[in-house]
Amino acid sequence: MSARFHRRTVLAGLAGLAACDGRAESPSALAFAALKDVAPFPVGVCAESGQLADIGWRALVDRHFDRLTPEFEMKSEVVLRPDGGLVFDAGDRLASYAEQTGKRLHGHALIWYSQGAEGFAPLDGDRARFAAAYRTYIVEVAGRYRGRADGWDVVNEPVAEDGEGFRDCHWRRNLGMAYVEQAFVHAAEADPSAVRFLNEYNLESLPAKRRTFLRLLEDLLRRGAPVTGIGTQTHLSIEDDPATVRTAIAELGAYGLPVHVSELDISTQGRWDAGAERKQARLAAAVAEGIMALPPAQRYGLTLWGARDRDSWLTRPPRPPGDRPMLFDDQGAPKSALEALATVLAG
Ligand code: XIL
Repeated sequence: MSARFHRRTVLAGLAGLAACDGRAESPSALAFAALKDVAPFPVGVCAESGQLADIGWRALVDRHFDRLTPEFEMKSEVVLRPDGGLVFDAGDRLASYAEQTGKRLHGHALIWYSQGAEGFAPLDGDRARFAAAYRTYIVEVAGRYRGRADGWDVVNEPVAEDGEGFRDCHWRRNLGMAYVEQAFVHAAEADPSAVRFLNEYNLESLPAKRRTFLRLLEDLLRRGAPVTGIGTQTHLSIEDDPATVRTAIAELGAYGLPVHVSELDISTQGRWDAGAERKQARLAAAVAEGIMALPPAQRYGLTLWGARDRDSWLTRPPRPPGDRPMLFDDQGAPKSALEALATVLAG
């Protein structure tokens, strides 16, 4: 059921659940209704196939989410073997799980500056063969899930870290910056029905990076490149200013394309106290406000980059322990940030 809940319904639901549990608990410990029923757009979570055996993870994900993004098992680091062969076992498992549990699928990521070099190394310098293999890779991967993915992150993180220009990478060295446009052309050929995203991070905290990203987008659109979606990863920290989140989503939304908050986490930088929890909740609310300020047709959705704190890439070695970046705690209980997000979504 995707009925919109009014705020009082959501909170009454929380109180009711507490009462029936016979436990007077703080809101953040209440069993939550269902995020996917509160949101007027798909709410996704990243996943890796090993998590399918985790009963607690599946219970939480099946209850609250209606879209899945493979965290890394549809990336070339897994799909493209050094000998150029393609491996889809893990990606297929995730796609099947999504379909068997009534979830949508978002493909991530066809072309990323940081991966794929080994498999393409034998073609380095041979532009014609490299370009042919580039098309084949994109068409094979996106084509495998044709009609099953709502969208694909076609090119991920093309902008330089500091926003000054664009990343150097093997794709660019062999194809020039045309690698970006060509990726979208091949992705459109492979799966015309999927929304095709240009996906980037730090678009909130680095205005220079957002300007360069939008310059690239405008150039692509001017050239008629089949870019049909904008992904802002939204990896935040509690030191970020909520206003920058709303501003970034509004600026990205000005192009009339679907916008995907594609990888939300809010790092508490190893802290967890009342102040950190409050800041995290304010940022989560700002994300929801930013999306809700978009016209409904542009709300592609929100994807959390992890279900529980312990599922986050930010809490795995080699990173230090102690970060609490997600909206559900290690036991799967909603945190204040989830309640703040849901309250905005519930209107
Ligand atoms: C991360 C995954 O979460 C990790 O498990 C993996 O080891 C590295 O990649 N931007 C992206 C995501 O687009 O694909 C990255 O995900 C996080 C940054």
